[in-house]
Amino acid sequence: MDTFSLSEDQVLIRETARDVAKEKIAPLASGFDAREEFPWESVKQLQELGFMAMMVSPEYGGSGLDTLSYSIAMEEISAACASTGVTMSVNNSLAAYPLEAFGTHEQKDVFLRSIADGGGLGAFGLSEPDAGSDAAGMKTTAILEGDNWKLNGSKMWITNGGVADVYIIFAKTDVNAGHRGISAFILKKGDIGFEIGAPEKKLGIRASTTTPLQFDECIIPHDRLLGNEGDGFKIAMKTLDGGRIGIASQALGIGQAAIDAAIEYAKVRNAFGGPIARFQGLQWKIADAAMEIEAARMITWKAARMKDAGQNYTLQAAMAKLYSSEASVRAADMSLQIHGGAGYSRDFPVERYYRDSKITAIYEGTSEILRLVIARELLGKY
Ligand code: CAA
Repeated sequence: MDTFSLSEDQVLIRETARDVAKEKIAPLASGFDAREEFPWESVKQLQELGFMAMMVSPEYGGSGLDTLSYSIAMEEISAACASTGVTMSVNNSLAAYPLEAFGTHEQKDVFLRSIADGGGLGAFGLSEPDAGSDAAGMKTTAILEGDNWKLNGSKMWITNGGVADVYIIFAKTDVNAGHRGISAFILKKGDIGFEIGAPEKKLGIRASTTTPLQFDECIIPHDRLLGNEGDGFKIAMKTLDGGRIGIASQALGIGQAAIDAAIEYAKVRNAFGGPIARFQGLQWKIADAAMEIEAARMITWKAARMKDAGQNYTLQAAMAKLYSSEASVRAADMSLQIHGGAGYSRDFPVERYYRDSKITAIYEGTSEILRLVIARELLGKY
């Protein structure tokens, strides 16, 4: 497997993503962040390019591209605006993927198509107020009554909550069966008994929306069950394997943007009679961060290639997300330090990179849960 070189198509995707990121998305990012406003304008650019459903088959309105192309595009978009990046990642990895992988033709024709080329957005509802890392500990229930499912409970930390049209929701259909009693459902905005709460006030990715969801005697038809009854936990885990490649790529984008900003600033900021770039203490900080982000990129690309090759990539996706997110946090911290007081002000984007990088080590599996996933994959049963 050649981890290192890109095909002509992948190079073209990178150039296209880089151009739109620099020219259209980056100029808007600070404003959306400051106003905590959802970046519709940026998202619409991505919809026009087919970036919101990159890996979805053309039969359902997607671009039919590979995961490595997706990773490359995610990195470029996230370097410009991490809020736009996570919106893109959730639509591609957490909503479109499970619909395509586990949905019926009828479900794909309606729901997948609507978030692939229909202008709609998708969301993924797994976490709850009392069940984040322990996803199987969820309390939301779904009971079959005649031809309908009745959902009761709540979800929390839902990216794209409120702006999405299609929601993949996990609920217990058998409360006595542990993770084997969890099933997946497709909900629509506007379903009776489905309420969306107020957006969270966050440290970073402030332009992305994150809301709670509430199900109060929410009635949905039987044919909105996604996959088989009881398969929900495995659907969630497989979906998160792919999601972790998306978030690893988002982290790479933020980290690379922070390094690029540090290099630019170090060359123009003068102290003690010349540019601060001449100080070896600062050069080594930049060198270490660049090396870590490059290593993180290689693990992420490897995970993407393994997914495309149909291999089990749970281990590599967990390593990619863990290493990239932590390298991104370190790169943003390094860049802010090199910027000094300027970096602490809102006049430079580095304070946004610093705030945005942190979430990549938390959502879609905290660093601690990913270490557990990696160790379980390595040690197996004993
Ligand atoms: N693929 C397929 N199956 C998997 C799997 C995978 N990657 N991981 C686990 N499974 C299967 C296991 O094989 C097991 O199967 P059996 O029933 O046949 O035995 C079953 O699932 C249960 O597995 P575990 O015993 O390992 O389950 P656990 O309860 O110990 O939990 C966990 C494992 C890794 C901690 C899991 O709960 C987890 O990943 N937690 C983190 C959840 C998470 O990432 N949440 C993010 C929320 S989404 C978000 O942040 C999105 C956003 O909006 C941006």
